[in-house]
Amino acid sequence: MTSLPSTDGHSPAPAARARSLSKIYGEGDTQVVALDKVDVDFDRGRFTAIMGPSGSGKSTLMHCMAGLDSVTEGQAYIGDVELTTLDDKALTVLRRDRVGFVFQAYNLLPTLTALENITLPMDIAGRTPDREWLDHVIDTVGLRPRLTHRPTELSGGQQQRVACARALAGRPEIVFADEPTGNLDSRSGADVLDFLRRSVREMGQTIVMVTHDPSAAGYADRVLFLADGRIVDEMHEPTADRVLERMKAFDREGVPRTGPDAAVVGDGPRAEAH
Ligand SMILES: Nc1ncnc2c1ncn2[C@@H]1O[C@H](COP(=O)(O)OP(=O)(O)O)[C@@H](O)[C@H]1O
Ligand SMILES: [Mg+2]
Repeated sequence: MTSLPSTDGHSPAPAARARSLSKIYGEGDTQVVALDKVDVDFDRGRFTAIMGPSGSGKSTLMHCMAGLDSVTEGQAYIGDVELTTLDDKALTVLRRDRVGFVFQAYNLLPTLTALENITLPMDIAGRTPDREWLDHVIDTVGLRPRLTHRPTELSGGQQQRVACARALAGRPEIVFADEPTGNLDSRSGADVLDFLRRSVREMGQTIVMVTHDPSAAGYADRVLFLADGRIVDEMHEPTADRVLERMKAFDREGVPRTGPDAAVVGDGPRAEAH
């Protein structure tokens, strides 16, 4: 099958999208449905946050979308490329050339300087960095005075900013960040979030970020709420306060059910009425 689902008449296609994406781990009694027929678009140049309780499928969604994990059913696309049609080699190339990652652990190489860490993926791929772009990333992330430092000579926040710069250096079409501020104090976390925000606004980057922190989600253009492997709600132009309110409502009333007879979720009048 090479036919693609419609992207509702707009082109180009969203930076990434899932169609009826399911991921099941294990078999029989030990089977876990980590993702349950998820449909979602990640538009270009937008910053999306994904929230939800522990075990709700946030990391799984990210890994399936990024080609780091296989899908059980349905499709995951980067641009118009459907990941399940790719063999391992093609998937590796796609990940290398079109996708950036930031993890909670910074995953820097201790023997390399900040700059060497930033350009490592391109060095491995034999690509010459676009000097102007690289300079722009380095200045935006505020690392110019630290480029010759090794990770042990940098704070946690600085190390994570190196990891962010590394993810952006190759100009990927989309960056996936899994709890990038999870190990950081709030001040360093804010530096990282400011950088991610600016990379969207000033460089047109597309970012998908998992977080459990309402103030981190407040930096995004849109927040998706996940529960039991399903997207149960969505908020546009979030603020930390509104995200917190929504989470409290979930705790009080339970998460909205999805499915044919589900109540309307999203930014409808009900959601805005507080
Ligand atoms: N490799 C795996 N093998 C088996 N179960 C897994 C694996 N990875 C995740 N799961 C399960 O899938 C569900 C979703 O996990 P995950 O995506 O990590 O959630 P989150 O990131 O929202 O905390 C959980 O029930 C988790 O235990
Ligand atoms: Mg996770």
